[in-house]
Amino acid sequence: MSPGLPSQHRALVFETVEAGFQLKTIPTLQPIPGSAVVRIAAAGVLSYSREIYNGQRHYEFPKPIVGGFSAVGHVAALGPDAASLRPGQLVYVDCVVRGRDDPSALFLSAIHEGFSDGSRRLMRDVWRDGPMAEFARAPLENCIALDEARLCRGLGYSPLDLMYMCYLLVPYGGLRDIGLEPGETVVVCPATGGFGGAGVQVAVAMGARVIAMGRNESELARLKEHVTKGTPGANVETVKITGDDDTDTAALQACGTIDAVLDISPPAAAKSTYLKSAIRALRRNGRCSMMGYVMDFMPGVKVMGSNITLKGKLMYEREDMLQFVKMLESGLFPKGKEFVDTKAFGLENWKEGFDVAAEYTGVGRSVVFTP
Ligand SMILES: NC(=O)c1ccc[n+]([C@@H]2O[C@H](COP(=O)([O-])OP(=O)(O)OC[C@H]3O[C@@H](n4cnc5c(N)ncnc54)[C@H](OP(=O)(O)O)[C@@H]3O)[C@@H](O)[C@H]2O)c1
Repeated sequence: MSPGLPSQHRALVFETVEAGFQLKTIPTLQPIPGSAVVRIAAAGVLSYSREIYNGQRHYEFPKPIVGGFSAVGHVAALGPDAASLRPGQLVYVDCVVRGRDDPSALFLSAIHEGFSDGSRRLMRDVWRDGPMAEFARAPLENCIALDEARLCRGLGYSPLDLMYMCYLLVPYGGLRDIGLEPGETVVVCPATGGFGGAGVQVAVAMGARVIAMGRNESELARLKEHVTKGTPGANVETVKITGDDDTDTAALQACGTIDAVLDISPPAAAKSTYLKSAIRALRRNGRCSMMGYVMDFMPGVKVMGSNITLKGKLMYEREDMLQFVKMLESGLFPKGKEFVDTKAFGLENWKEGFDVAAEYTGVGRSVVFTP
């Protein structure tokens, strides 16, 4: 038994879709080689966590399982092969778990088992439980060191607010993947959701001009106000999605040269035409990161005729996380409520937490469990 680790701890255990979650006391896992056990300060809740666990999304994962996604916490115990992490270190515990001998065997902690035998086996037998618990064991490489002195005491972020990284990292992965450069113009669509709003914040921090597309004009106005208040001088324009392909393309073209597009659509938007419009509005050699679910996006000969790059992207790479943390620590993001306004719930209030997370969405909003 590692010193500093209790023999048992509280965790949100998911048994079946019908039974939902139960707050249980379970044995605390010991660190094994290649792992860290983290005392969880904040476990992230997605806008669609409720849909994942009520079966609406049909995501496959083994059961029973401790729920989760990514988390922020302090290292409580380490496997013998930890080379740089130390007990007490603040870390971001990332939910993207990859096979060490095959990084394409990838799954999302307590969310989705992935699509290969290897990823399913890794999730079922090795890294099964998520971090909606007082303690969680994670692969060493998933524990990204955060400079607590700089981020919390210097820049004023709380560990709970740092959980907002889970939103920012996703669009950063896509934007970095298509090589977004400072000074370029990027369309984020849709921009009124959690990941889309974060995409606007990230693109601004990367030095880009942003055109934020969305259906909801009042949320677009809140987004623009939030981002420009947090980053005075940020160059953000908004374009309302009308649902008419030609109208939306023309509205984007009126904004001038467009270098890149970030799509972060939910399944509900699968039949939308706004992504097709955004691709039509791209300049020659333009790039599009496809992180969402729009299926109807091919705009005739445009892709071939204008040398367009369409690149799918799931989450981000470890390198992206390390680079992102450097940006955060260097002060490139807003502080205080202009960064994020976090709502926190105890594990016992899990139902309320999931319900609030489904509604409390968009830029600068985050819901966490505080075990
Ligand atoms: N590739 C990846 O690695 C990755 C990672 C994380 C998430 N995702 C995907 O990103 C999606 C968005 O997540 P989120 O947390 O940002 O969701 P969210 O906060 O619920 O936001 C959903 C967004 O989609 C818009 N929308 C919904 N239905 C639409 C429709 N029919 N037409 C146009 N816009 C529509 C909403 O606009 P309104 O404001 O008008 O309702 C809102 O902007 C998720 O569903 C997930 O599948 C992908």
